Amino acid sequence: MCGIIARVGSDNGVDELLNSLSNLDYRGYDSAGLAVVNGDIRPTVVKCEGSIEDLGTRIDGRLAGSVGIGHTRWSTHGPPTDENAHPHTCCDGRIAVVHNGIIENHESLRERLVAAGHRFDSETDTEVVPHLIETYLKRGCDPETAFRRAVGDLSGSYAIAALIGDDDTVYATRSGSPLVLGVGDDEYYLASDVPAFLEYTDRVVYLEDGQLLTVDPEGYRLTTFDGRTLDPSVETVNWDPEQAGKGAYDHFMLKEIYEQPHALRQAIKGRVDPGTNELSLEEFEEGAFADVSDVQFVGCGTSYHAALYGVHLCSNRGIPAAAYLASEYATSQPRISEDTLVVGVTQSGETADTLNALREADRAGARTLALTNVVGSTAARECDDALLIRAGPEIGVAATKTFSSQVVCLLLLAERLARDRGLDESSSDLFAALDALPDAVQRLLDETSARSIAERYSGANSFFFIGRNTCFTVALEGALKFKEITYEHAEGFAAGELKHGPLALVTPETPAIGVLDGPDREKTRHSLAEARARGAPVVAITCDPESVDDVADHVLEVPRTHLELAGVLANVQLQLLSYHAAAMLSRPIDKPRNLAKSVTVE
Ligand code: F6R
Repeated sequence: MCGIIARVGSDNGVDELLNSLSNLDYRGYDSAGLAVVNGDIRPTVVKCEGSIEDLGTRIDGRLAGSVGIGHTRWSTHGPPTDENAHPHTCCDGRIAVVHNGIIENHESLRERLVAAGHRFDSETDTEVVPHLIETYLKRGCDPETAFRRAVGDLSGSYAIAALIGDDDTVYATRSGSPLVLGVGDDEYYLASDVPAFLEYTDRVVYLEDGQLLTVDPEGYRLTTFDGRTLDPSVETVNWDPEQAGKGAYDHFMLKEIYEQPHALRQAIKGRVDPGTNELSLEEFEEGAFADVSDVQFVGCGTSYHAALYGVHLCSNRGIPAAAYLASEYATSQPRISEDTLVVGVTQSGETADTLNALREADRAGARTLALTNVVGSTAARECDDALLIRAGPEIGVAATKTFSSQVVCLLLLAERLARDRGLDESSSDLFAALDALPDAVQRLLDETSARSIAERYSGANSFFFIGRNTCFTVALEGALKFKEITYEHAEGFAAGELKHGPLALVTPETPAIGVLDGPDREKTRHSLAEARARGAPVVAITCDPESVDDVADHVLEVPRTHLELAGVLANVQLQLLSYHAAAMLSRPIDKPRNLAKSVTVE
């Protein structure tokens, strides 16, 4: 998705702007641009289709300015071209605007502006914004009022930053798209996401919908849309800038797979005590969920698969639960009462479909909870409660460590719910297994043979992933990851469903990958045998290689663990399988085609 950056300081900030844009490139983009205030009445704009390196080549060290805005564009309205790249300007070039999101009424606004004599250079919805600001300036408004009034004409979702004339000020606002201010010692930054400026400052202010921000070298001012001054709290982000870099790894995805032992340690740190079987989630008082009657999970993609895993964890404890694809939630019209807990599972906390589902649940009277990785994200702020998964920044488009941390935190949440509702607590074996999980993942990472299996089968026609119960959700996730980064066809099936249709697709060219260690492993073994009987090469993921001697061509071994955690370990093997297959095929692993890290449009 598009990324916004702005930088306000007193020395030349063009390199910082370019660097911050590179830090945002994980979000996915097809064009990029910058505008800086440089003493002239018109900000200087440089933009192009292509990469941030192409933009740097165009700038060629010839651009200077201490105040500027920048953008990476992921095309929605109009193809990736130089003209459609942001920033967009008004007729006389005095106003430059960058925007994330979608302006829904852009067609009618454009008609009105064209009728009034404005000339448009792009096909984007964004371009109406500088022309609207220009209109209000011409009517005699001061820059801030012109910005306010222009934004007042918009409907849709947006985060906007603007430069107006030779003013050393950035004007910004948001509605439904994230925007965060970074407060440095001598500079300020504004971005769609913290990693953009994390190497310059870790002190942040999260903007809320409907707030207006003005930043100049002297300071910043946050107001409500009707002009009331706000006193926002400055939070410190505890992400390490090192963590946000690739280090010695070829790809962020691989780095993040290998960070899982650390991420899992963080997820459980201070929350479980295997000695006393105590569970303490600092976010909630004990008994906070005593009245919860049922749980509905909403999420998209990988987070939806974690949500499906969460359903089993609740059901295992006698808690009624269901998972919905967030985009289907409103039309599914699930029954909601004030005792229903609706949990938004969202790494970024900014996924538009998930936010909409949570808002729908809130309107219907449910209690809402965000299970998220990002402190201060929209989901965390809008929900009644938030449970942080503490995975650290995830840059690769393919979600990896956040899935594992989500599942572990869903387990903690399910256990908290059960205890608050007076149901039996799980035996101490579970917390002992949780405590041992990070080391188990480390062992798996040290010993995996996923690469050689990936190399052997990377030319196959299709890949089928099967499992039951929690291992079915992992099979779905394994298939999603595989297709996402290898571009090869992959599907996940409930093992029992194989014989009800998909078996027709199974041939010697379609490896079947079975996730075994969940409930009913014997039946999954049978399903693998059925696939093998049709000539499919079989890969079994299990802690007990001998048990699959007769059905598997290859085994990806995982350490033995608690039944409820087996899926997490199996999934790490599947992540590695996808990664190595994609690497074999030379795919752009961290930025798969057509995909974006944070999907902030419906
Ligand atoms: C797949 C992937 C996506 C996300 C989905 C939801 O690897 O990353 O399927 O899981 O877009 O994103 P969040 O969790 O940020 O709501």
